[in-house]
Formats: sequence, C-alpha cells, structure tokens
Amino acid sequence: EEFSGDGVWRYAAALPFDEGVTIREGNTPLYTVPEIEAEADVADLRVKHEGANPTGSFKDRGMTVGVKVADRLGVDRLACASTGNTSAALAAYGARANTPVLVLLPAGKVAAGKVAQAALHGARICEVDGNFDDCLDVVAELADRGEAYLLNSLNPFRLEGQKTIGLEILEQSRDAHGHLPDRIVLPVGNAGNTAALYKCFRELVEAGELDKSEVPKLTGVQAEGAAPMVEAVENGRDYVERWDDVETRATAIRIGNPVNAPKALPGIYDTGGTAVAVSDEKITEAQRMLAEDGVGVEPASAASVAGLLKLRERGDIDADERVVCLTTGHLLKDPEAAAEAGGDTTPVPADADGVLDAL
Ligand code: F0G
Repeated sequence: EEFSGDGVWRYAAALPFDEGVTIREGNTPLYTVPEIEAEADVADLRVKHEGANPTGSFKDRGMTVGVKVADRLGVDRLACASTGNTSAALAAYGARANTPVLVLLPAGKVAAGKVAQAALHGARICEVDGNFDDCLDVVAELADRGEAYLLNSLNPFRLEGQKTIGLEILEQSRDAHGHLPDRIVLPVGNAGNTAALYKCFRELVEAGELDKSEVPKLTGVQAEGAAPMVEAVENGRDYVERWDDVETRATAIRIGNPVNAPKALPGIYDTGGTAVAVSDEKITEAQRMLAEDGVGVEPASAASVAGLLKLRERGDIDADERVVCLTTGHLLKDPEAAAEAGGDTTPVPADADGVLDAL
C-alpha cells in the first residue's frame, strides 16, 4: 500500500529506507518570482515553496522518514515540541502510521491553521505555559525517560528526509536554466534545514557528484526578536548562546535555542554563507511581495526574501548571483497574519449596482 519512487522517495538512495510512511511529500515547485527578482536585482531568483507539501510545510519530508523509523522500532507514542508545523506534520504522519501523537505547544503562540491540523489529525495537544524552547526541554525529558519517541529535528532521521530539499533544488535549477544556485537563503529556527542542506551537499561532494566550489552558500535568516544564530555568526562563534526572551510575528521561528546550531554553523561558515536578522515589518512586506507574485506563504517563510533584500542592499550578496529562497510554510497556516497583511474587505448590498458603486 505504501507508495514509493516519487517526491522524497525518489531519492531513496540518499535515505535510510527504500520507502517511508508516506502522504506523497516533496516534489515542491521552484517558482520564478519576476517582481521580487527585479527588486532584488540578482541574476536569477527562484522560490522553493515547501508550503506545497501535504500538510503545508517542509516538515513532511522529515516525518516520512522519522515516523518510519518509529514504526520499525514499534514505539507506543510519538511526541514533539512545536511552534506549530512540526505538530501538524507529526499528527498527520502519526495518524497514517496508527501511532498516538503527543504535541507540546507554547500556549497562545501557535498560528490557528497549525493547531487545527494537529487537532483534526487526532494528536493529544498540550499547551505549555512557556515558549517553544521550554516545550522542547520537557519533551526531550519525556523521551529520555522512555515515555515517547522524539520527532523534533534533534532526531537525525528527520534531517535525512529534509536533505531532499537540497537534492530537488539542484535538479530543478539545472533543469530550469542549466546552472546550480550560488546561494540558498532560508529562514532559521532550530537550524534543522540549514544542517540538513549542509549534510546533503557534503554527501554529494564526497560522492564526487558535486564540486566543493559548486556548493550553494547557506544563508540563514532570523527575526530580529529571535536571532541567536545571527548573533553567533556576527561574532564568528561556533556556538550559540540561548535567548530566554524571544518575540516575533513569525511565530514558526520564535525560537531562542536553535538546537541544531552545532551542525548548522559549520555549514554557514564552510559554504561562505552568512546570517542576517530582519524586522517583523520587513517580513510582512516580503510576505506581500511574494503574494503579488502569486506565492502565498506564512510569515516565517517570507523572512527568507526579506533577508535576501537586506543582504543585497548591504552589498553582502552580489548582483551576478543566482539565488534560491526557501519558503517553508503555506499562507493558510497563519490566516490571521495573512488577513492583517492583506487588504480590507468591503461590505456591499446584494446587487450588481451596489457592488459597482462601492468599487
Ligand atoms: N519555517 C517554518 C514555517 C517553520 O515551521 C520552521 C520551524 C522554520 C522555518 C525553521 O526551520 O528549525 O529547520 O530552522 N518550525 C518548527 C516547528 C520549530 O515546531 O514547527 P528550522
């Protein structure tokens, strides 16, 4: 019954299994975004839209592998801490595997679409009086005590699946214009994707499939109110100091303790990338710009585009670069943020003249 050979599982050779617990994840579009490309003034700009995954974020790529491992192990309970998307994905994949799911969410700080997904897919949802990092501390302890199988990005099998973002970007770029991207700009929370992409490219170099000079520069973007990775990179450090107080409209990346930093920072340094923090205002602006090119994303995803524009303005990114921005989650994940960023509605009577009068 399990389907393989498409999307993420097309790359089974780079994964620990031939097939996973699948809802047909991966194979997401690499869009052109003409208006933003012109604004950014780079040689080529594409947007890899992970919102097109089954549950609307890149988390599905990790869960298809991670839940398969849990299935093989025969665990009784899957668990994660989450700013929302991980919980939505785990709830769906856990349902698919018939394994109970426990999710710990920071109370009042998770976007409505994500809670709705976790609820409908039948996860047990606990709202914690604390932020995401507190939730992760608790769920890691539950896992240590043998009470649950942890499916946050601390779980290395999650990152194996997320490597396929890098494989798709390389293949799609080559197909689109015959060149590999010079740079990948992505939002950073726990830095799982940054670590996964770095591992993906390292493995390709080791296999002789990619020259080291061709590895895209990994460029991380955080919100100003939650930017411990940026602080580390700006100070040339190989470790991150935890921020206890974090705040941003981009609740998906409202994270003060990026647990994959030890794997991600070497990726940023070795590829010649960088990290940058952007304001919530710029994130909203970028969300609108993407929407004007027809691409609907949640705020955290728009951080990648805001980061590109800021680095380009600073001269840290050159005009001759080919860039891919990763947009990690779908617009409908956070309908409130989308409605606020968008235009107003107009009340009209139920007749054509009334509508025309109001326009
Ligand atoms: N973008 C979105 C939409 C996310 O949901 C997340 C992480 C990130 C970016 C950051 O990715 O951790 O690989 O650097 N969301 C997690 C969650 C924390 O619980 O859904 P990262």
